[in-house]
Amino acid sequence: MMSLCEMAVDVLTTADGRRKTAKSRAHAARWFAARASGEEIPLGRAAAPLRPARPEAPQLLDPREVPKRKPGSPQGRIALLHAVAHIELNAVDLHWDIIPRFAETPMPAGFYDDWVKAADEESKHFNLMCDCLEELGSYYGALPAHAGMWRAAEDTVDDFMGRLAVVPMVLEARGLDVTPGMIAIFRKAGMDSAVAALETIYAEEVSHVAYGSKWFHFLCGRHDTDPKSVFHELVRKYFKGALKPPFNEEKRAEAGLPPDFYWPLADQTPNRSR
Ligand SMILES: [Fe+2]
Ligand SMILES: [Fe+2]
Repeated sequence: MMSLCEMAVDVLTTADGRRKTAKSRAHAARWFAARASGEEIPLGRAAAPLRPARPEAPQLLDPREVPKRKPGSPQGRIALLHAVAHIELNAVDLHWDIIPRFAETPMPAGFYDDWVKAADEESKHFNLMCDCLEELGSYYGALPAHAGMWRAAEDTVDDFMGRLAVVPMVLEARGLDVTPGMIAIFRKAGMDSAVAALETIYAEEVSHVAYGSKWFHFLCGRHDTDPKSVFHELVRKYFKGALKPPFNEEKRAEAGLPPDFYWPLADQTPNRSR
């Protein structure tokens, strides 16, 4: 039987997106079936690669070189779905990576439940975005994508709390801020399947941010440190630049992120882009 860390590395070393997500979903199903039956899949140990395997396409470009397209045009909508697909594929790897990377830190089983569930949902999100692209005659890999999405993982490769602060509590929380605007674009274009897919993503991402906040607070409690000041310190250390308002205060609150966590890190200068 594969250990949970071996399952994670199996996903991380699979390059093709659809194959990666199929493995991710199958391993998640195995984990939850075992949890339900009382049988135990050991955590085990396995060496996570510094960077996950990725398909040959899309070509990865510096964010400044990725061509910008108007979101109001059909090509712009394809580009938007493609960008979200790329984010979701990164999210699959980010969720599996944390398990073998920080396996030496003892965590309750519920931590692994949360991460495996989120990894399974990210896999579903990638497939949903691929389905939408294919419906429009495109596919994941047809356009260039942002390089450097794995940067947050590399920067926090030896800092578990830094990883939790930056990935779920900053990057995934940002998704809560921007997704309603994307849903509006596809609603206006009458693209029901993209609207439904993005609504699923939006609903499920709240829990991913919440898992991050929950386990970040857990670790602060274990070390008897103040979560808010530790969060500020770690985000300033690992996240380059300020957080960008407007924030989705309602969904952030639902996910256990109070305003005093993110407002002090925000760029509050009007009309300055970062
Ligand atoms: Fe997602
Ligand atoms: Fe997520």
